[in-house]
Amino acid sequence: MLNFKVDTSTCINCGLCASDCPAKIIMMGDNGPAIATADEGRCYRCQHCLAICPKGAVSILGVLPSACAPLEGNLPSADQVEILIRGRRTVRRYQDENLDPALIARLLNVAWQGASARNERKVLLTVIDDRKVMEAFRAETLGALARMIRDNKLPPGRERFIDIVAAWENKKIDIIFRGAPHLVVASAPKTCATPEADCLIALTTFELFASSLGVGTVWSGMLQWVMLEIWPALRGKLGIPEDHVIGFSMVFGKPAVKYTRTVRHEPAWIARVH
Ligand SMILES: Cc1cc2nc3c(=O)[nH]c(=O)nc-3n(C[C@H](O)[C@H](O)[C@H](O)COP(=O)(O)O)c2cc1C
Repeated sequence: MLNFKVDTSTCINCGLCASDCPAKIIMMGDNGPAIATADEGRCYRCQHCLAICPKGAVSILGVLPSACAPLEGNLPSADQVEILIRGRRTVRRYQDENLDPALIARLLNVAWQGASARNERKVLLTVIDDRKVMEAFRAETLGALARMIRDNKLPPGRERFIDIVAAWENKKIDIIFRGAPHLVVASAPKTCATPEADCLIALTTFELFASSLGVGTVWSGMLQWVMLEIWPALRGKLGIPEDHVIGFSMVFGKPAVKYTRTVRHEPAWIARVH
């Protein structure tokens, strides 16, 4: 049940909702736009009809236009967005404190607003929101890796973890999680159209929004190797469903470092098609 409703007192019958509908199920009739019950199952649930209506006359899925922020006058400038993108940094030093739970909830909810193939929106964000839980998870992971090294069970090509575990055991330097107090793992059902891409989009969105809020992040390639190749049991400890693909993981928290300026990487590698 889509609950597609049009306020006929404000609708101007412009047809924008119908022409922008990706499923082409909105028909303009004598009483304005409508969706036939038989077509409801084909709706993408993308809410384009609500987003495009210039009069705020369309609601769908129980979402009212009055609950959605207008874009005009509310968008950051392109220069501001560029500074955000160029100023985003991988943060590898963290304060030993929890982020405010409301801030974590906001980060996760905004991250989840990114695009997903067919608008499936099936990315699961598994989060460690308490540094004590993270401490235990860190110790368990590094302890398991230490045992595997001792038992000569490290897969070939992953010898780097010998030094990583030694740094932890000898100096309490955490190269895998960078001492961060929080973790988010993005996973999605294997049956999704593009589970990995959907997860990476969610985490990219998370990273940028986090940067705008002064929250540091690190893409955790190391944890990906551990969960996919070295110690797959770890995903069970996080409760990641068995039928999910793990897209990627990201650690995050309040930085113990402050960057003053953007950096300048070389120009983009671009191939023009003639
Ligand atoms: C997929 C991916 C995996 C990464 N894995 C790690 C990691 O395991 N540990 C780490 O410290 N940084 C990791 N990074 C961060 C990169 O090293 C970092 O983005 C790069 O050095 C550029 O620095 P910047 O992000 O501050 O611009 C990863 C980045 C990406 C995109």
